[in-house]
Amino acid sequence: MFRNLRPSTDIIEKRQNDTLEPAHANFYRGKPNPLRLILQARHDFLSIWRKTDYADQVTSIKLLGRQLVLVNSPDAIRYVVAKRHENFERKTPQMRRALEFLLGDGLFISDGETWKQRRPLVNDIVHKNRLPVFGKIMEKTANEMVERWSALPDGAGVNVLYEMAGLTAEIISRSVFGNDLGEEAANAVSQGFESYQSLIDSINLGYFLGFDDGLPVLRTPKLRRSVSRIHGIIDKVVEDHLAGRGDDQSMVELLVRRQQRNPELKLDVVALRNEAATIFMAGHETTAATLTWAWYLLSRAPWVEKAVHDELSRVCGDRTPTMEDLPALDWCRAVIEETLRLYPPVPILARQATEADRIGDVDIKPASLVLIVPWLLHRTEAFFKDAHLFKPERFLGDKRPIPYSYIPFAAGPRVCPGLQFGLNEAILCLAVLAQRFRIRVADDLKVEPQCRLTLRPRSGLPVTLHRRGKA
Ligand code: HEM
Repeated sequence: MFRNLRPSTDIIEKRQNDTLEPAHANFYRGKPNPLRLILQARHDFLSIWRKTDYADQVTSIKLLGRQLVLVNSPDAIRYVVAKRHENFERKTPQMRRALEFLLGDGLFISDGETWKQRRPLVNDIVHKNRLPVFGKIMEKTANEMVERWSALPDGAGVNVLYEMAGLTAEIISRSVFGNDLGEEAANAVSQGFESYQSLIDSINLGYFLGFDDGLPVLRTPKLRRSVSRIHGIIDKVVEDHLAGRGDDQSMVELLVRRQQRNPELKLDVVALRNEAATIFMAGHETTAATLTWAWYLLSRAPWVEKAVHDELSRVCGDRTPTMEDLPALDWCRAVIEETLRLYPPVPILARQATEADRIGDVDIKPASLVLIVPWLLHRTEAFFKDAHLFKPERFLGDKRPIPYSYIPFAAGPRVCPGLQFGLNEAILCLAVLAQRFRIRVADDLKVEPQCRLTLRPRSGLPVTLHRRGKA
């Protein structure tokens, strides 16, 4: 099932006329070696799968005495995330331990009563009804990027992963904290999150050594500094809002008002900070990764890029695309949906079973790890014909994948509350930037997907920017 540790990953990418098989790790063909799995998964979780793992099935393996169950079947996924949600709602010790120092009891890693109480709150503040307000922020920020790129010489080189990370961090920062945060503090928060992620390890060895809840992550001075910087800035924003000095359209303001209306929620400064930090973290890297992969795919598939450009001319003419145009931008939407299929920003949904259970024909022991891997699921031929090929047409018109076979935003009660926010943001930013720029990835660039907390190209994606005229 898994491949031995190898210092580098063997990548496949095939281009032929109007067909693109974009970059993915080659299938593992050697003998499984369980001890090395942990180390290999740490280097690259996507290179440990055999061809036979891309199938409609539920499989179980033992690793250092622990049961790991891989669920790659829509019915079984429905069972885990919806029907038996309460038994499988708990995040893994790896995820909880990695993020608890930064996010405390924030929604992403909470469960039980805390999750039940906070989830409706977060649902409300990122709800699609609020898109008109957030949409204006998205339009303004994307247009600022057009202006900035327009000031660069034609053909300028940038790393588009970092450009997209800056763009989406600015959008989420303005949405969560309001317009008053200031550029310096906003950058400090983004950089703090970036440095936190590079310092933590997502594999918690304590779990495999017998601790059901894993072991706390070592809080090195560097880690402490990056956390206290982020907490300090967010606490100041929350305190300003509590004192009535905040931007009244921001998500923090909505959280504060909700607490003032419902004091029984007992959201103190720390709880408010945890939820604000969670939304900030969950809400920008994912969209940045989506856009980065979309630029890679469009650059390698010029026939799709042309369909996008033709659509933008037809729908928007000379105007800059806005949120009102999104329902008519079918190709832009299909490109984003296909990008999310091939490169799901959250490529693993990992849970810890609370009680004994049975998924399909597999008996589950308490405290076992249950893995749903959208990376595998979305590339399983039984659900997607030509599963490794980039074919946005599969999402055009009314065509929809089999329920629970396409889950880039997860599914069930723990589905991403920012689904509409993230999807609309990605489509809008793609439309605004594609109208004005052609983004080129060098023909000989080896692009390697890397899975840490999110799935991104290892070392980012160097590109060149080429101006397009309006229609
Ligand atoms: C393309 C963009 C996005 C993708 C692909 C995405 C994907 C996901 C996925 C797969 C999960 C579930 C993770 C798990 O259960 O292990 C999740 C959770 C979450 N997402 Fe998103 N997300 C995106 C954008 C956003 C945005 C824009 C926001 C906020 C504005 C957001 C807020 C959250 C929160 C708060 C959770 C935790 C929900 C809970 O545990 O109840 N996400 N997201």
